[in-house]
Amino acid sequence: MSRRDLGRRAGAWVVALLCALGALLPFACTQHASTAHDGGLGDAAHTAALIPLPLRFSAGEGSFLIDGTTRLVLDESLLEWQLDAVLLEIVDPGGRFGLSVTSMPAASSAERPVRAVPGIQLALGGEAERLGPEGYELSVTPERVTLTASAAAGVFYGLQTLRQLLPDPEAGYSTTLEWALRSCEIFDRPRFPWRGQLLDVSRHFLPLEFVLENIDELARLKLNVFHWHLTDDQGWRVPIAALPRLTSVGAWRVDRNDEPWWGRAEAAPGEIAHYGGFYSREQIEQVVEYARLRFVTVMPEIDFPGHSRAAIAAHPEVSCDGVPRAVATGGIADQNTLCPGKEQTFAFVQTVLDEVMDLFPSRFVHIGGDECNKTAWAACDDCQARKLAEGLETEEQLQSYFIGRVERFVNSRGRSLIGWDEILEGGLAPGAAVMSWRGEEGGIAAARAGHSVVMTPHSSCYLDLKQGDPELEPPLGYSQCLLSTVYAYDPVPAELLQGGAEFVLGVQGNLWGESIQRREHAHYMLFPRLLAIAEVAWTPPALRDWDAFVDRLEPALQRLEQRGIGAARSLYDVAIDVAEGAEGEGPVHGFVVTLSTEHGRVPIHYTLDGSEPTAHSTRYVEPLPIESSTRLRAASFRAEQRLGRIVTKALAIHLAAGRRAELVGSPSDQYRARGVASLTDCSRGSLVHADGRWLGFQGVSLEATLDLGSLTPLSRVTLGCLQSQGSWIFLPSSLSVSLSDDGISWRRAGTLTPDALTRRAEPALHDLSVHCPGERARHVRVRAESVGTLPAWHPGRGGESWLFVDEIVIE
Ligand code: ACM
Ligand code: ZN
Repeated sequence: MSRRDLGRRAGAWVVALLCALGALLPFACTQHASTAHDGGLGDAAHTAALIPLPLRFSAGEGSFLIDGTTRLVLDESLLEWQLDAVLLEIVDPGGRFGLSVTSMPAASSAERPVRAVPGIQLALGGEAERLGPEGYELSVTPERVTLTASAAAGVFYGLQTLRQLLPDPEAGYSTTLEWALRSCEIFDRPRFPWRGQLLDVSRHFLPLEFVLENIDELARLKLNVFHWHLTDDQGWRVPIAALPRLTSVGAWRVDRNDEPWWGRAEAAPGEIAHYGGFYSREQIEQVVEYARLRFVTVMPEIDFPGHSRAAIAAHPEVSCDGVPRAVATGGIADQNTLCPGKEQTFAFVQTVLDEVMDLFPSRFVHIGGDECNKTAWAACDDCQARKLAEGLETEEQLQSYFIGRVERFVNSRGRSLIGWDEILEGGLAPGAAVMSWRGEEGGIAAARAGHSVVMTPHSSCYLDLKQGDPELEPPLGYSQCLLSTVYAYDPVPAELLQGGAEFVLGVQGNLWGESIQRREHAHYMLFPRLLAIAEVAWTPPALRDWDAFVDRLEPALQRLEQRGIGAARSLYDVAIDVAEGAEGEGPVHGFVVTLSTEHGRVPIHYTLDGSEPTAHSTRYVEPLPIESSTRLRAASFRAEQRLGRIVTKALAIHLAAGRRAELVGSPSDQYRARGVASLTDCSRGSLVHADGRWLGFQGVSLEATLDLGSLTPLSRVTLGCLQSQGSWIFLPSSLSVSLSDDGISWRRAGTLTPDALTRRAEPALHDLSVHCPGERARHVRVRAESVGTLPAWHPGRGGESWLFVDEIVIE
């Protein structure tokens, strides 16, 4: 039997084994089965688990078998990177075949192509220009596997591809089974040199093991920057030998779990806990070396001059007023800014950065610069004296002065400074690089001015935002950033195509830690969106395709789960969209419901009687007309298996449905849903205030009058409201309902005074109802009073509050 035949047989064995695991691996079955039917290997099936997708891929005939006789050879220069160990871990996991690696003197540059040996060979010596520093070529034939690159990083990335081409070793692979690499030719190199992820360990401390595991996952995805957000208002996590209070004081906070915004989930309400932690120097050195061997640069972020409450808790003398304050617990801290008026602040910053640069050899040092609260500067004699002495007119210029001095110090040690896009305000320091997060504008402006830029706009790259329907998602994060939004992102904005694109170093996903308290939380938020970031960072846009990506995603999610990493599967959840059945004047009695998933191609099944949907419930094929109140439940399925969560929507067709309200007070242009019709379209808003279903009124009250057409018996009038105090959205201070038979003389049916101003941690939906049993009326008027300006306890105190309403329900 030829090796090639063996290869096919082994392939069939793999299919059989994966099918036996069918319940666990529903995808593997269909994909490998279709391969078997083809007789040949379609590219789609072949690249089944490859994320990020390689630049060029072509499938060949037959397979290379790995067994106890397989020779493993590498260039001896790769030993320095321990790539012999990586190769063994990938091709002989658990040492099942007892393979070993032989090293060879590096191929001389005269040898093109590299002289191939039978077996698996890792060689340096490809064409440096074509491959770049991180590219590789991988050739798999039934006789040999050759991985070539011009530098060790390329070999490492080729090995990650090899790993993904092999069956999942964790998925119950049998030691007696030979395993196979299907023949292919790959040429691959990344689109961007900066492919990053931020991990915030200040808001909640994450242990060393998590950090190492995170770096492992980056390496598997060919990501190469680990942006370690080590300091913020809620904790200082890096030891500075000359300033021991930074960790003895600054790493610890006193949590009261009834604090609004992000208390600790494991603490009982009202419980007080000392919470925090920091890494030792040895641990940090371990992380840096662990990452280096995986071609990941660890870039520290020390957030100055704002977000510095933990530093100020340890050293109040570097704040403007010098008043001792505690490490922050909640999400938004005030009095958290260093004083750029005092010389000792610069001595402090230099002491910190000196030691940080000793610990972290990265070229870039991130010094934060974001969301700097400058109110303390305006009231500080030292800051004002500094402005006078330096000829600065605004607080922004004072921030720019601070960043400029820090940059000169960072440069004096041969390093480069990078900061959030706020460092553009008041003038950018001459050599500084910019991380664009508030949008792309900062990145565009910086690139046009010839500064290096990393794109991470929050709307596409913030992995701490919710990745689906907030009513289905766990209580992690806020707002929304869907997997498909991340996947669609292009780090080079159109504005830079005529010039400046070359300054875009790359892209990164950011996991901020306000709601991330445990490993599982972090995994749920990181995955699968980090896989989309990896493909955005590596693969050119012309090769990116959502349908193909989600097909490759499923086996990747299964591999993550085999490693104990639970990813979100929100892309399989069903979204329910309700629209009016007909356009035009007057009442509309019908509604049309559309069901969809973000995935886009999985069957949806639903029920209308409140029962749990199964694969045998009615399959959704086209928009559903709904004519009476209904409880709709839906989920997506593959064969018998439910894929997403069950979503439930009560569609209450009420007396005002489809009637037009007359409004006094206008919604803002930003939050007007589909206009006044949205108030009576039976479509309810979610906890995401920008979901397009809410009407938002800033600083004004709402008055809506409805004509029911004839005298109608009534029992209850309800106004649907959102409370989301962190987004400045408050319940009304009062709600009154008046009734009229003729639209001229009115009588009061009832008034409510909701508790609008008490501080609340979580956003919530509130149906405010006035009961009026036994009443009959033709006209109904609802008046909701705004609470006006934000109360003194609110971080935006004095600003205009918002009133958000989605529906007037009349029963
Ligand atoms: C940031 O999210 N404040 C950079
Ligand atoms: Zn000051």
